[in-house]
Amino acid sequence: MGALRALLLALAAGVATAKPPNIVLIFADDLGYGDLGSYGHPSSTTPNLDRLAAGGLRFTDFYVPVSLCTPSRAALLTGRLPVRMGMYPGVLEPSSRGGLPLDEVTLAELLAAQGYLTGMAGKWHLGVGPEGAFLPPHHGFHRFLGIPYSHDQGPCQNLTCFPPATPCKGSCDQGLVPIPLLANLSVEVQPPWLPGLEARYVSFACDLMTDAQRQGRPFFLYYASHHTHYPQFSGQSFTGRSSRGPFGDSLMELDAAVGALMTAVGNLGLLGETLVIFTADNGPETMRMSLGGCSGLLRCGKGTTFEGGVREPALAFWPGHIAPGVTHELASSLDLLPTLAALTGSPLPNVTLDGFDISPLLLGTGKSPRQSVFFYPAFPNQIHGVFAVRSGKYKAHFFTQGSAHSETTADPACHASSLLTPHEPPLLYDLSEDPGENYNLLESVAEVTPEVLQAMKHLQLLKAQFDATVTFGPSQMARGRCCSPVLQMRKLRHGEIQGLVQGHPARKRLG
Ligand SMILES: *[C@@H]1O[C@H](CO)[C@@H](O)[C@H](O)[C@H]1NC(C)=O
Ligand SMILES: *[C@@H]1O[C@H](CO)[C@@H](O)[C@H](O)[C@H]1NC(C)=O
Ligand SMILES: *[C@@H]1O[C@H](CO)[C@@H](O)[C@H](O)[C@H]1NC(C)=O
Repeated sequence: MGALRALLLALAAGVATAKPPNIVLIFADDLGYGDLGSYGHPSSTTPNLDRLAAGGLRFTDFYVPVSLCTPSRAALLTGRLPVRMGMYPGVLEPSSRGGLPLDEVTLAELLAAQGYLTGMAGKWHLGVGPEGAFLPPHHGFHRFLGIPYSHDQGPCQNLTCFPPATPCKGSCDQGLVPIPLLANLSVEVQPPWLPGLEARYVSFACDLMTDAQRQGRPFFLYYASHHTHYPQFSGQSFTGRSSRGPFGDSLMELDAAVGALMTAVGNLGLLGETLVIFTADNGPETMRMSLGGCSGLLRCGKGTTFEGGVREPALAFWPGHIAPGVTHELASSLDLLPTLAALTGSPLPNVTLDGFDISPLLLGTGKSPRQSVFFYPAFPNQIHGVFAVRSGKYKAHFFTQGSAHSETTADPACHASSLLTPHEPPLLYDLSEDPGENYNLLESVAEVTPEVLQAMKHLQLLKAQFDATVTFGPSQMARGRCCSPVLQMRKLRHGEIQGLVQGHPARKRLG
């Protein structure tokens, strides 16, 4: 009888855990591998993220497929390589006509189909389109509050400093569009006062969670903070408060937002029923010097296929389901869609996915099925294919190219002056012994053991096979007489526009 009772209890527990979790996906911007306290930064103030790291699973080998905003965000939401859906070359600009194609299935669509209430706060950067055709409400999000671009893609510099109207350090793009804060498909205000944004996003997020609970539905929150993209800004309670300057203040505000979201989840009594995932889109923009992030012990940063560009901090927190710990298994932002599909019982979209279901790794029932990771440059083409491949502990670079984003580091290989360079044989690194990619194993004959040669051949084969199977979709990045919300959106508040961007060329287009 005792055994039967135990079995029944276990089954009941199984049914309880089978209830799909709420999902909070927090995505930071241009945050490096070395920026969080839990990843070793000595002067960052990140107590809330560090608590998630201590109470959840902390990844040491978590990757994004491309070290730029737009393609990385496309990969996160679809589980597919950005080149498949035309999210190349570079990033979407306010004048780009395209966006994330509407036939792509996003995480929000997948979860909405399972009855989730879905919402997104923050930076979209996956296109606007005529009449806002590519905005989050057309990609599965029931609710959206955010900016469709990076906040430096408009004249933002006087909107980042506290108190208001203080002229700020730092440059932003001029003459395109005022950066609009959109509520669903309407312009709420443009441009918004940036130091007030995080508080609005948190309040939007709390409303989403509360409403979902009231409706008896699970929620999916995609919280894509503008922090810590340049130029740095932060609200009054954070400006000047960290010991790491404006970057540290901005990171501290992001961390406090994470704390506020966790408090809200706790107050709703949902801590054990909510999976929280934190990661970032790409490595640090070191060209901003101390106003950019830090890739820690990794080489280079944003815009490159070196580790500093593509390896990111990543945390998964779900009390009672994910045991606290550190994992060195390979994982990628591409894996989130198939993993969340598995955890919520969602059918997978009928498309070629580039991610794996890593739920066994999260739940402690198995290893990551991912054996390799492939890296495209910011400006990919089918002739070169992937620039670098990691398999197990080895990584080979078949091409390298520096980037303006990775300027100012001590290593000239990171800089824009390092032009596209083919490597035959490839540069080969053992990332277990040499995570900083300092010592090319094929450089000195003495190092070339049979195992190293075999690793090189294996990576060459992986690249050849991979490149032969990936089809690039048509690029969505073309510019044209389209698609700024200034021209396309209906509900503008002209008073606010005129008050804030008087004399700016974009204003003339408002007519
Ligand atoms: C967006 O639309 C939804 C559904 O109509 C609504 O609940 C929400 O308040 C709107 N605004 C924002 C900012 O999400
Ligand atoms: C920012 O403020 C400074 C000083 O008030 C002013 O000269 C400059 O034109 C402003 N820039 C923009 C884009 O509004
Ligand atoms: C999946 O897509 C393929 C190719 O587009 C199609 O032939 C097939 O019927 C689809 N399968 C399902 C189950 O929809």
